[in-house]
Amino acid sequence: MYDGDIASVLITEQQIKDKVAELAKQVDEDYQQGGDLLLVGVLKGAVMFMTDFARALPLPAQLEFMAVSSYGSSTSSSGVVRILKDLDRDIAGKHVLIVEDIIDSGLTLSWLLKNLRSRNPASLEVCTLLRKPDAVRVDVPVRYVGFDIPNEFVVGYGLDYAERYRDLPHIGTLDPKVYTSGA
Ligand code: PRP
Ligand code: MN
Ligand code: MG
Repeated sequence: MYDGDIASVLITEQQIKDKVAELAKQVDEDYQQGGDLLLVGVLKGAVMFMTDFARALPLPAQLEFMAVSSYGSSTSSSGVVRILKDLDRDIAGKHVLIVEDIIDSGLTLSWLLKNLRSRNPASLEVCTLLRKPDAVRVDVPVRYVGFDIPNEFVVGYGLDYAERYRDLPHIGTLDPKVYTSGA
């Protein structure tokens, strides 16, 4: 699949699986206060992580989705966050956990945290599978991080380049020829 487009596999399917289980265990331990947890997955990138994470989590959790976009089809963050799909429900008084695939510049998340905090949830935390070094420059409190990864463009397991590669079961670095070919 996608022959030659992936320069190297950064995180294997098994490593993702193990990490998802580990994160789910941490969250399970931290949320024993009762009441369903509300997972807010950020479309589209977080879809694979969200569904695997929810199934690995022993706690009852409800699934909600928001779609925001900051990248368009470019490989670098524009800083412009747009709501493409808002939550359908009120989150006031709920324990909310934002589920993200990656924090790169941190702009999407810092905007999202501010937006969701204004809706008065009982608690608001973040669980991200991946985090890049630049993310630490923005002050976003992230409680659960799967992997800190180098500053390379990665795709797979939900992460795209121009809407492609989301369906890969692993996470890999994209061969620069893919985005420099002028196609
Ligand atoms: C990507 C990724 C994160 C965000 C991280 O989403 O899934 O949501 O960018 O970047 P940041 O930390 O620099 O803001 P994207 O906007 O590409 O939309 P998508 O999830 O639909 O691919
Ligand atoms: Mn995203
Ligand atoms: Mg994207």
